[in-house]
Amino acid sequence: MSYAQIIGWGYAVPSRIMTNHDLEKMVDTSDEWIRTRTGISERRIAGPKDTTGTLAIRAAQNALQVADLSPSKVDLIIVATCTPDHPMPAVASMVQDGLGASRAGAFDLNAACSGFVYALSVASGLIAGGLHERILVIGADTMSRLVDWSDRSTCILFGDGAGAVLLQRSESPTGLRAAVLGSDGSGLSSLYIPAGGSRLPLTPELVQNRRNCITMKGSEVYRFAVNAVTHATNQALSAAGLSIDDVDLFIPHQANIRIIQSAAKSLKIPPEKVYSNVQHYGNTSAASIPMALCEAVEEGRVHAGANLAIVGFGAGLSWGAAVVQWGVDTTPVPFSWWKSVVRNFHRREAVVRSFALRTQRRLDALRRMNGINEA
Ligand code: ACO
Repeated sequence: MSYAQIIGWGYAVPSRIMTNHDLEKMVDTSDEWIRTRTGISERRIAGPKDTTGTLAIRAAQNALQVADLSPSKVDLIIVATCTPDHPMPAVASMVQDGLGASRAGAFDLNAACSGFVYALSVASGLIAGGLHERILVIGADTMSRLVDWSDRSTCILFGDGAGAVLLQRSESPTGLRAAVLGSDGSGLSSLYIPAGGSRLPLTPELVQNRRNCITMKGSEVYRFAVNAVTHATNQALSAAGLSIDDVDLFIPHQANIRIIQSAAKSLKIPPEKVYSNVQHYGNTSAASIPMALCEAVEEGRVHAGANLAIVGFGAGLSWGAAVVQWGVDTTPVPFSWWKSVVRNFHRREAVVRSFALRTQRRLDALRRMNGINEA
């Protein structure tokens, strides 16, 4: 039997920090209201050059660095996102090109804030089933591009970022032990973007009325979230044959500290086993769980053999919970100038490769045109 072990992890956030005090200048709100109702103090906001794709590439490069693996060894890239750079193609294809992952297939998966748990389940299944050896799973979103910055009930909640894990086939029984994925599409209008899809293609009027921005019934989503987190986590634990006491660290989707605390209380998980970094990043959608996982590793809260319970929820309505047994040492590898040279080489090689492929395509097109003109 094969298992999908996490052997690399990394995250990336934009450098621009937006504090609650900055938001006080934009909408009728206060630092005190935001902190007490959500636990958020600041969030990262994409700069002009940041996109979901660029953040995803940086997070993936960091995960490959931890795993000490060349991009050419990756078989598949899955990006969980609801804010792709373009309606098509997939962000995952941009990541494949940006990394120079020459052998990898690539696709996006949209389950909003539950996306990372969905993607991790899909990837683990593909590895356990013998289809692939190594898969990069990335959660990346730039929610700031879809937020209505005049709506105080939503703009205070979201931030931008990306987190990635690299899964590799292993005979050791670690990685995903159980997952529960759920959906209740009847809750579509609780949290959605009305326009910009096939139902309501964008028009200047729709944009003017901000129908291309996130619309949310906050208290409805809040009630759903506490229930979904509690039930899905219990279901995943029982599918893994574990109890709450077996959980070493609980890493829920970072949307609101009150949701996290209420769910942890009803699950009877003590606060010291709950991980939260929502105060620094706000809700980064599909990126929030892998970013929190990476920071938990950095803080020494994840060790080989640890049972992690992760749970996401969001638009759909959707939810997903998983139990992951951590399998590898998390001690940071000391800096090696030689490895850094190799990594830089791979990054430059990816840029040159992409340029060469594009040039080749243009030359082919020119040759075909000349052929047609001559015929
Ligand atoms: N500053 C000051 N006052 C505000 C703000 C603000 N930023 N936003 C709302 N208020 C006001 C409201 O207008 C309301 O005023 P009123 O009583 O005069 O009408 C009052 O505060 C209370 O509003 P509620 O909506 O009841 O506040 P609540 O305590 O429910 O908090 C919140 C709102 C933070 C949005 C909460 O409902 C929540 O976190 N919901 C879940 C949201 C979530 O997690 N969404 C993401 C899911 S993941 C994904 O897929 C993207």
